[in-house]
Amino acid sequence: MKWYATIPLLCSLASAASWSSGIWQNQYYIGGEGGDPFTAVAEEGQVVSKLRVYKSTKDDIYLRGIKLFYTDNTEKVIGSELGDWDEHAFEAGEVVKSMSLWGDGKGKRTGRIKFTTDKGEFDFGKDTKGQQEYPIDVGSGILIGFGGRAGSDIDQLAAIFIKGLKQRYFDNIKYADFDIGSGFELETIKQSDVLYQGSQYTYTFTGTQTFTKSSTFTYSITNSLSIGTTFKAGVPEVAEISVSAEWTISGTVERGETETTTDTLTWSIAVNVTDEASQRRCTASYYKGNVDVSWTGDFVLIDNDGNEYRIPVSGSTKSVDASKVIASCEPLGQAGKRTVYETITGPAAATTGPPTTLLKRAAPTAIAAF
Ligand SMILES: *[C@@H]1O[C@H](CO)[C@@H](O)[C@H](O)[C@H]1NC(C)=O
Repeated sequence: MKWYATIPLLCSLASAASWSSGIWQNQYYIGGEGGDPFTAVAEEGQVVSKLRVYKSTKDDIYLRGIKLFYTDNTEKVIGSELGDWDEHAFEAGEVVKSMSLWGDGKGKRTGRIKFTTDKGEFDFGKDTKGQQEYPIDVGSGILIGFGGRAGSDIDQLAAIFIKGLKQRYFDNIKYADFDIGSGFELETIKQSDVLYQGSQYTYTFTGTQTFTKSSTFTYSITNSLSIGTTFKAGVPEVAEISVSAEWTISGTVERGETETTTDTLTWSIAVNVTDEASQRRCTASYYKGNVDVSWTGDFVLIDNDGNEYRIPVSGSTKSVDASKVIASCEPLGQAGKRTVYETITGPAAATTGPPTTLLKRAAPTAIAAF
């Protein structure tokens, strides 16, 4: 029965490939010539989320092993998980600002690794007093793995970083087909019965409603590389149609991961009440929409020399939007049985001068106000 547990893992491995070396910052190998060569680089789009470093415990101290944890929850061990260890977990968005490596002082092993990030520091290995320090060019500061030589110890080590980048963004986003009429709920904002009391008058059925619309992208490679980047994409939004609601994909513009705007919806209809036959039931309503649509696209990285790298990604976009207000005034006799929120009473027959409008609120929540 364990077969079932392993099948999804095999599928995800089949589609993955490591970062191409074109996007690696130059490597600096520090240590000796023993052991076998290794390269332990994250899958494309993934980065190192944590590293654990082991060192020997006897007098002759050098690095024994490194365990790498990647953002896709895979792991890789180089050398041996033996001896003392210390580790550094990268927070989301944390980048390496500087790194240095040292040998073991005998030209045989890697002796010490030290780096500082925008959030902290990691320093582990031997006391390298009097030894040459080798500063490493960290490029973008985004660590994707290590290379070098290893057997039961770390013979030689180089950190592998993503090159310095001048731009990062999501592009070429293509939405999957979805039901454009789905995810809507009709909400009545206001309903008024406009009655005749003996004199002609006009009544303007009007109001406003605020609505907070938003779009949020989620995607398959959330890590230090993608945090804070933009999306050159359209988002699902409510189409401008008159009596119902449906989704359309808006034009492509550069957007943040989450965008929120508050709109004020308005409506206005004039009603001329001249007799009982012209009494009206006025209703203002709108469709509130909520949809989550999946997409495929590219995550684009442009290095400082202008070279472009595209990584296929998938994700989904959640949109919350509203239609415009649908307002109408129907003859009262034909109006359906709906909750009446408000009754407008026109001036009585005896009244002289301009007609006054009396409001009698029928909604239970408003009774306390009168
Ligand atoms: C309302 O209807 C009456 C009767 O048809 C008309 O005389 C009056 O001009 C109308 N008023 C408005 C504001 O349309």
